[in-house]
Amino acid sequence: MSKKKLFIKTYGCQMNAYDSERMAEVLAPLGYGVAAEAADADMVILNTCHIREKAAEKVFSELGRLRPLQKQKSESGGRMMLAVAGCVAQAEGEEIVRRAPFVDIVLGPQTYHRLPEMVAQASRAAGVALVETDFPVEDKFDRLPESRTASGSTAFLSIQEGCDRFCTFCVVPYTRGAEFSRPVAGLIDEARHLVAGGVREITLLGQNVNAYHGEGPDGATWSLARLIHRLAEIDGLDRIRYTTSHPRDMTDDLIDAHGTVDKLMPYLPLPVQSGSDTILAAMNRHYTAESYCRIVDRLREARPDLALSSDFIVGFPGETDQDFAATLRLVTSVTYAQAFSFKFSARPGTPAAVLDAQLPEPVKSERLAMLQELLGVQQTAFAETCVGRTLPVLFERPGRYAGQLVGRSPYLQPVHAEADPALIGRIVPVRITECHPNSLAGVLPSSPVGDALMKECA
Ligand code: SAH
Ligand code: SF4
Ligand code: F3S
Repeated sequence: MSKKKLFIKTYGCQMNAYDSERMAEVLAPLGYGVAAEAADADMVILNTCHIREKAAEKVFSELGRLRPLQKQKSESGGRMMLAVAGCVAQAEGEEIVRRAPFVDIVLGPQTYHRLPEMVAQASRAAGVALVETDFPVEDKFDRLPESRTASGSTAFLSIQEGCDRFCTFCVVPYTRGAEFSRPVAGLIDEARHLVAGGVREITLLGQNVNAYHGEGPDGATWSLARLIHRLAEIDGLDRIRYTTSHPRDMTDDLIDAHGTVDKLMPYLPLPVQSGSDTILAAMNRHYTAESYCRIVDRLREARPDLALSSDFIVGFPGETDQDFAATLRLVTSVTYAQAFSFKFSARPGTPAAVLDAQLPEPVKSERLAMLQELLGVQQTAFAETCVGRTLPVLFERPGRYAGQLVGRSPYLQPVHAEADPALIGRIVPVRITECHPNSLAGVLPSSPVGDALMKECA
C-alpha cells in the first residue's frame, strides 16, 4: 500500500511523457502512488519544456499556482515536495531556484535515475534546493528500472537521447546533450515486456530518431531501419512508428523499410521548418526544399499510402516575403495530413537568437495565420479522403459516450465508434463515416470480421 502521493505534470514532447512514466516507476519503491491532482500530492514534479518562450513561462506560472498549496500543506503539518525536471530545469536551473526558492529539487533529463536519492536527501533537508543538472557519464537508461508495466495498448519507447544537429533556433542540443543511442538488446527487451503487457503499438522516440546508431547484439552499429526490421519480428507487436526525424538523416535503408515492413505505419512526421533555401541554410538544416521534396517522393514510391506531417517555423530572423512564399509553395506541392507550426521564438543561448533582422511580432503572426489556414485546408482534405474507407483501428479506451470506444487509425487520427469494450487493445476494421476537425467517426461492419475485410483495410 502506498502511503505517499505523487503528481507529475508533463509539458513538451513525447520524450518527456516517456520520462515522466519512468520517474513514476523509479519513485514507486519509495512508496509513492499516483495522485489525481496536485492538491492531493505529497510530491509534485513539473516535467518541463524549453522549446519556445511560452513553454518556459508556463512553468513559472504553474509554480506560482502550486506555492499556496504547498504553504497550506505545511501549515497543516504536512509537506508538499516540489521538483522541476525536464528541459527548463536543465537550461535554467539557477533561475528556477532564484525565482521560485520554494522548489525543493531541480533535475535535468539525464539525471532521473538519481531521483530517489535526491528525494531522500530533500526529505531530510527542507528549505535547501537540490540542483542536479550535470550530464552524468553513466547512462540513465541503465540505471532506471529494466522493464515497466504496460498500461494500455500503445506505448512510447525512447531509443535515443540528445541531438548533434544544432539547428540554429533549437535548445535541444543544450538541454538534452549530445546524441546517444541506446543499445539494441535493451530495446528489444523493453519492447518484449511492453508487448507481453498488452501493448500492440510502439512509437520509437528520439529528438533526431533517424540518426539512431545503437550497438547491436552482434557488436555492429545498427541503423534505425535495422532496429525496425528486428522489432517487426516480435509476435504481438502490430504497429511501429518513429518520431521525430530529420530529413537529412532519411537514409536509403529507412526509406526502403517503409516499403517492406508492413508493421511500419504509413504516417511520418518529417519536419521541414521552411521552404526557403536561404532560411534552411541559416537554420543549419543541411537540405534544400528540392532535396526534401525528393525524399518525400521516394518515401511515397516506397509506400504510396504514406501520409506526412511536418513542423514549421515562421518569422525566422531575416525571413522575407519571398522566403515565406517559398514555404507556402512547398506546402502546396507536398501536401500534409497534419502539421504543427510556430512563430520563431528567440531562445537564450542559441545562435539564431542573436541574429540581426529579428522580425516584428505582427509579421510573424500574419504569416502564421496564413500558413495555418493552408495547412488546415490540407488537414481537412486528408480527413475527407478517409471517409468511406475502411481503416484498421487500434481501440485504446472508452469514448466520452456510453457504448463508444476511441482508437487510432494508421494515420494517428483518433477514431470514435460504437463497439464492444472487449475490443479495447484489438485492431478492428472500421468503416469511416464522418470526419471532424481533429477526429474521425465510423462504424464496425456488421459482417463478421473476416480476412476479406482486413485486406480491404489500408
Ligand atoms: N527534433 C525535431 C524537433 C523538435 S522541436 C526535429 O528536428 O524536427 C519541435 C518543433 O518545435 C521543431 O520542429 C520546430 O518546428 C519547433 N521549434 C523548435 N525551436 C523553436 C524555436 N526557437 N522557435 C519556434 N519553434 C521552434
Ligand atoms: Fe533541434 Fe531537431 Fe534540430 Fe536537433 S534536429 S537541433 S532537436 S530541431
Ligand atoms: Fe521540449 Fe525538451 Fe522535448 S525542450 S520538446 S521537452 S526535448
